[in-house]
Amino acid sequence: MTGENEIMPRHVAVIMDGNGRWAVERGLDRTEGHRQGRYAARRFMRAADDRGIEAVSLYAFSTENWARPDSEVSALMELIETALVAELAELTSGNVQLRVSGRRTELPEPLQRALRTAEEATAENDGMYLNLCVNYGGQVEIVDAAKSIAKKVQAGELSVDDIDEQEFGRHLYVPELPPVDLLIRPGGDLRVSNFLLWQIAYAEFYVMEDYWPDFQPEHLDAAIEDYRRRQRRFGGLALEE
Ligand code: FPP
Repeated sequence: MTGENEIMPRHVAVIMDGNGRWAVERGLDRTEGHRQGRYAARRFMRAADDRGIEAVSLYAFSTENWARPDSEVSALMELIETALVAELAELTSGNVQLRVSGRRTELPEPLQRALRTAEEATAENDGMYLNLCVNYGGQVEIVDAAKSIAKKVQAGELSVDDIDEQEFGRHLYVPELPPVDLLIRPGGDLRVSNFLLWQIAYAEFYVMEDYWPDFQPEHLDAAIEDYRRRQRRFGGLALEE
């Protein structure tokens, strides 16, 4: 049995890597790579929606990205804000539900406002989820969930014996998302980079050599095709043919 099937991954997550290299190879500023990455994100969203994917997660800024030069950090903050404002009409009319993962209170106030506005504007939608990960770290998310659980225990609202994977999952930034089925990383690196550590427990990993600004819908089709060829056993045994 090859495991070949027509199953669509429910949740596809992307580490949008390679923007800097894309730009440097063309003699451009790294921020130009990020600007092009924004349009790649738009192409990806449209392609995912067309294929009936239920949820997408995009890694737009990690808790480690603050270590970059100030000019690149502020360019990224402005780019994410500008993109949210510019894409809001399409997100709304496209029935997308925007969710945000990350420690957002540490973000510049204008970006926090843009995130809130976009969340509120799409709150009544019931189509594809866009989980935008900004100032996001997988370890920090797990720490934040642990703190939230500890507070409930302290307040006498939860007993320690009732903490299991389901209860833990309810304290993640966006608990309503299904687990990640497919994790796509452009740029060729074989790293998870602190992305959705809890949610990717059984995700299939697809690495593309092309950089993120070069993303085209065909890359998503290739990733889905590859995903369908894999046999997902979730730690169990392969089913008899
Ligand atoms: C990693 O490439 C990419 C980022 C840190 C930023 C990604 C953010 C965007 C594309 C903005 C998208 C905005 C929205 C609202 C979806 P890198 O700089 O690490 O590339 P390198 O590995 O080649 O240096």
